Amino acid sequence: MTLPTASRNFGIRLSGTGMAVPANVVTNADLAKTVDTNDQWITQRTGIRQRHISEQGDSVLTLSRDAMQQALAAAGIAATDLDMLILATLTPEMVTPSTAARVVSDIGATPASAVDISAACSGFVYGVNMAASFIATGFYKHIAVIGCETLSKITNWTDRSTCVLFGDGAGAAIFSATQDTTRGCLYQNMGSDGGRWHELYCPRSEADLPPEGSGAPFNGQYNTLHMNGREIYKFAVGTLQKSIEAALAHCNLKPSDLAMIIPHQSNARIIESAREKLGVSEDRMYVNIDRYGNTSAASVPICLHELVTAGRVKPGDHVLFVALGGGLTWATSLWKV
Ligand code: ACO
Repeated sequence: MTLPTASRNFGIRLSGTGMAVPANVVTNADLAKTVDTNDQWITQRTGIRQRHISEQGDSVLTLSRDAMQQALAAAGIAATDLDMLILATLTPEMVTPSTAARVVSDIGATPASAVDISAACSGFVYGVNMAASFIATGFYKHIAVIGCETLSKITNWTDRSTCVLFGDGAGAAIFSATQDTTRGCLYQNMGSDGGRWHELYCPRSEADLPPEGSGAPFNGQYNTLHMNGREIYKFAVGTLQKSIEAALAHCNLKPSDLAMIIPHQSNARIIESAREKLGVSEDRMYVNIDRYGNTSAASVPICLHELVTAGRVKPGDHVLFVALGGGLTWATSLWKV
């Protein structure tokens, strides 16, 4: 779907970013002390070298709040200027109220609207597409989108097939209406395939278990992530490539027209495979999974903040966000930021 930027008398720009991660760093060598794994296996199969893991005092609320305060400072707006805050997470503080409402209160943005969304690793890009669409209506000027996870709280730390993959963190971005009509979301796409929900799921009780014969993994521990790694891998490689191709074709752009492709950081091999097939140069496909692991909804905004801070994503650049994950879900968003 293309938003009608040309017919509006305003555009949309990325006005500020922020990020926060727990101070506690866990290396591959640290994990090798508690489960049967080693640095070489983890690095070669995933590209991950370390991850940040929450300690007492770290939560989705505190990490989101810290990332948001940075984003507000970078945008140069007051918290009270925010019209809406969308928080993508699969690890909210509790079932209700939304964590977003509490972040809004903590940063002094009341009465901005607040909502949590659940689209797993695709959540931030879903949120970005929603923010673009809301601002395009003309009713909202500044919308914050946060991706934040404390996956460590739903990780089975005795399961080596999953515990080496995940990390905690938050990234935030503020999108604002601007008089520059050329800037904004040039293309967006989102999808889901809920029939494959059990490829990556977190059961609360027996009632949540997949039907027998589904091939879904279950290791007996409720309230922890279960994942069919090989199936997710195949889904991720194919979907990443197709999503990027579709966005570029729609906008009539080449990979070299983009300042950066920011893919969800699920596995360095998945990203590298798509990069090679698409002929994208290494400097245009961002990878930081070595330092953070897979932080689900937080991975894309953490990348974005690092790139903005390093001057590698600048106002007016073309940037492609692409993510996929549990649900199954996927989302793409191509911007002139
Ligand atoms: N350390 C050492 N050995 C391990 C570990 C570990 N941490 N984990 C598994 N192994 C072993 C397995 O037991 C297996 O041993 P076996 O051959 O004796 O049976 C062997 O390593 C190979 O296991 P595979 O599961 O086949 O390894 P694979 O190459 O598929 O890599 C991985 C596994 C990294 C999980 C990969 O499948 C993957 O990245 N999948 C995608 C996961 C993903 O992206 N999840 C995120 C959520 S969704 C999303 O973000 C897209």
